[in-house]
Amino acid sequence: MAADLTAVRQQVVLRDVEKCYGATPVLRGISFTVRSGEVLVLCGPSGCGKSTLLRCVNGLETIDRGTIEVGGVIVDPGRAEDLKRIRLSTGLVFQNFNLFPHMTTLENIVIAPVKVLGRARREAEDEARELLRSVGIPEKASSYPYQLSGGQRQRVAIARALAMRPALMLFDEPTSALDPEMREEVLNVIRRVHEDRGMTMIVVTHEIGFARSVGSRAMLLEAGQVVEEAPAAEFFDAPRSERTRRFVGAIKNS
Ligand SMILES: Nc1ncnc2c1ncn2[C@@H]1O[C@H](COP(=O)(O)OP(=O)(O)OP(=O)(O)O)[C@@H](O)[C@H]1O
Ligand SMILES: [Mg+2]
Repeated sequence: MAADLTAVRQQVVLRDVEKCYGATPVLRGISFTVRSGEVLVLCGPSGCGKSTLLRCVNGLETIDRGTIEVGGVIVDPGRAEDLKRIRLSTGLVFQNFNLFPHMTTLENIVIAPVKVLGRARREAEDEARELLRSVGIPEKASSYPYQLSGGQRQRVAIARALAMRPALMLFDEPTSALDPEMREEVLNVIRRVHEDRGMTMIVVTHEIGFARSVGSRAMLLEAGQVVEEAPAAEFFDAPRSERTRRFVGAIKNS
């Protein structure tokens, strides 16, 4: 297992990224860099484009203008091989887990390494059990998703993403469907994953405690534009713009 912790880390660079859905602009000239091993916390009101941005970073959505580079490779649907490489080295964790309901925990974790990466099943299963230990639910290998709590399902989703040995992890509100206690558990798992593996992460979250302590940088997006981007502690404790002050104030009181 130790060898896996030395995962490659990928830098992510966006330059003037624009995206529309039909005639509606959703991303309106976004530029930022997440350096290798950094955690960027992405905040913003509902509908400002956070999920769209994550989906563009791993090529699930196409952009209309600008460039996105992951690990020095341009995300471009016209370059299928590059896109495949980026997708394979990027782990995505959503709000609603998206586990395969008819498969056990173990099967959910091993299916992609075996089917997509061609790993030997035995080896993939050993690694999956190790991952379940590292996310704190070694005893749930044979359980089906319906037999797990929301927090446990999300841990399986994280383990499943890690089984692909990603160099970049994208989290889209990974705890917003959970009650407060489970939220803390899952946030601690993400915190530990970063401490142990140090891969680059972009995390959409409004959990300030987590964002301040794990985030390297934080960014407020509004109506498809970057309002402010700063080191995480500064962003939450001493925001420069009035808009960020209001936003941070609102989430602190929520
Ligand atoms: N597939 C789609 N087709 C058309 N419009 C879309 C599509 N996906 C998102 N949108 C629109 O794009 C805008 C940004 O959506 P997005 O899901 O990125 O917001 P968000 O910041 O993640 O919001 P939330 O906090 O509610 O998850 C919204 O106005 C949304 O309605
Ligand atoms: Mg969203």
